[in-house]
Amino acid sequence: MINSVCKLGIIGTGKMGGTIVNAILDKNIIPPQNLFIYDKQEDKIYNFIQRGARFLPVDKLIKKIDILIIAVKPNDMKPLLQSIKPYLKPAQVVVSIAAGVSISSIKMILGTSIPVVRVMPNAAISVSEGTCALSTGSTIDAEKISFIEKIFRAVAVVVEVPENKIDAVTGLSGSGPAYVYMMIEGLIRGGEQAGLSREISRKLATQTVLGAAKLVKESDKDTEELIASVATPGGTTIEGLKVLEEGKLMDLLARAVMAAAKKAHQINLEVNAHNEHKSI
Ligand SMILES: NC(=O)c1ccc[n+]([C@@H]2O[C@H](COP(=O)([O-])OP(=O)(O)OC[C@H]3O[C@@H](n4cnc5c(N)ncnc54)[C@H](OP(=O)(O)O)[C@@H]3O)[C@@H](O)[C@H]2O)c1
Repeated sequence: MINSVCKLGIIGTGKMGGTIVNAILDKNIIPPQNLFIYDKQEDKIYNFIQRGARFLPVDKLIKKIDILIIAVKPNDMKPLLQSIKPYLKPAQVVVSIAAGVSISSIKMILGTSIPVVRVMPNAAISVSEGTCALSTGSTIDAEKISFIEKIFRAVAVVVEVPENKIDAVTGLSGSGPAYVYMMIEGLIRGGEQAGLSREISRKLATQTVLGAAKLVKESDKDTEELIASVATPGGTTIEGLKVLEEGKLMDLLARAVMAAAKKAHQINLEVNAHNEHKSI
């Protein structure tokens, strides 16, 4: 299979699926006529059809494609998987982005011969600055995996992890945008208390976080070194850092990641026990 002739199906073109469809079309990852889409809500596919993607009912769509991305809510997964099972062939690959639904749950419904890839994206894929962790349940054709990675790299930094690390990913990058929003809000409030308007504080706080993240990303230095490089002894930053250290900001953030990861683990156990029990 050569990437440009790969035929891709996407079922569910809401917030996440729609972002993926747009990225594929924007970046010409495959020709639009090789992109087959389906969503229950016709208004969610109209724009993509205008751009050349092809709308087909699920049974016909499955017959056309090499790789299927499923982007419906976790609760909609089981009925959808049951409805597509009769049409899937072992040479195809199913990619699920549903939070909390394990590869084994999906395989239990589909039958074990269908290769399944699980991807955990975060909300920032909508601005092409997301993160995606990808897990494969079994050996999957390297060319197909590299094509799947290419799709998600259009909107995210992609890492590959064993599936038992997906809860940790959820705790860090899945929930992480909310922690950063909270930090930005704290910076905005500080700016206001120091005399700036909310509008200017928001602009400065947002760009400060964006710039700092870019410096971390592009630097070889570890974060301790970067902190030291800004915190001149006797200067201003060190006074702010003392307050953050007193409040144990780093511990708090680490605890937030752990708490969210633990909750993801509990939810996943419940969801998958329910799916697997009901599918027998
Ligand atoms: N949003 C995030 O930040 C995020 C992060 C990580 C993972 N995820 C995962 O991404 C998945 C999609 O989330 P989302 O926020 O994009 O959801 P969404 O905006 O609700 O989009 C899902 C779309 O799929 C449609 N749908 C449901 N069942 C279908 C079926 N059987 N056939 C065709 N279309 C169907 C839905 O229609 P109806 O509205 O009529 O049901 C809806 O239009 C979820 O599993 C979620 O866990 C999301």
